[in-house]
Amino acid sequence: MRRKPIPRPTAKAPLSETSQNIQSLPELAPKKKKRLVQMQLDLVGELRKKCRVCGMEYIPSNSEDVVLHRKFHAMNVGGVDFTKAFVERIKQNQVWAGGDGSFIAAVGRKDTLAFRNKASEVLKVVNTELAAVTIPDEALWSQLHSSISSKAVAHGEKPQPSAKGHSACSTSDRFKAYLYIHGQKCVGACLAERIQEAYTVVDQDDASEHTGRVPVPAEFHGASISISRVAEPAILGISRIWTSNLHRKMGIATTLLDSARSDFLYGMTIEKTMVAFSQPTGSGGELARKWFGRRAGWCVYID
Ligand SMILES: CC(C)(COP(=O)(O)OP(=O)(O)OC[C@H]1O[C@@H](n2cnc3c(N)ncnc32)[C@H](O)[C@@H]1OP(=O)(O)O)[C@@H](O)C(=O)NCCC(=O)NCCS
Ligand SMILES: [Zn+2]
Repeated sequence: MRRKPIPRPTAKAPLSETSQNIQSLPELAPKKKKRLVQMQLDLVGELRKKCRVCGMEYIPSNSEDVVLHRKFHAMNVGGVDFTKAFVERIKQNQVWAGGDGSFIAAVGRKDTLAFRNKASEVLKVVNTELAAVTIPDEALWSQLHSSISSKAVAHGEKPQPSAKGHSACSTSDRFKAYLYIHGQKCVGACLAERIQEAYTVVDQDDASEHTGRVPVPAEFHGASISISRVAEPAILGISRIWTSNLHRKMGIATTLLDSARSDFLYGMTIEKTMVAFSQPTGSGGELARKWFGRRAGWCVYID
């Protein structure tokens, strides 16, 4: 049932003309209102600019917006600032350490609000560059009850002991964020996700030559790849991966990927064949090809 959202005051003198219209032709009122709102949006749209580096949309004629963009842009280029005290605190979650004092910290559902908020702040920079949706905090820090497939077990995953002893079911963090910290800045991040299935990236020539099956062409962020029609079991999804602009091509994303697969599940390193990328960008696809060591045959998943 449709209802008018808020009854407009019809008794006030300056609105009398409109009010008469409303009384005689009730259906005209919402249309008129809608048209006015649309005009405002168009006006803003004309002045709005999207930065091609950090992805932030801002209004160049608005000085507050310009300052906000400058700060946000700096985080994309040089990394997200952490205080010295915070770096010391988050070091307790270290899962990898580099020779130069850099380290990777894992942040999950059970961590303090301060840690989770910092991870969300970094993910905001990542999502803006990727033009990806923000994952709500309730989902980001939620728990997942998942059954473990026989293929996953075959690749080394230990099922949790259950009361009856035979149903392989476990609870885990749905997501874990891996933050690469260099000095007092977070210069890279990987958001890893527990997944169940993924699709194999198919080499076009291979697909027709060897399997005779037609793969599904898919376009992610403008980069087109072909994927198999049938889903395969998978364990770890790379939901987001990002390195700040100034620190790219130095192996940071590679180290983040390695840390995620060795840390995500307690006590085991996940096989690369069980790792999948979420809708990769052009550079994400290149990173994946290098990390998996092959052009095709690795997996992507749809979230
Ligand atoms: C993709 C991204 C995460 C790579 O981060 P990175 O820290 O520079 O990656 P690495 O240094 O570990 O790169 C490892 C290998 O991946 C490949 N690679 C990475 N970025 C590449 C790019 N832009 N173009 C081509 N190959 C690339 C290279 O083979 C590289 O090895 P090399 O340096 O020996 O040639 C980074 O470019 C980024 O943040 N991009 C914007 C966000 C994005 O697109 N994320 C991917 C989402 S799926
Ligand atoms: Zn910018």
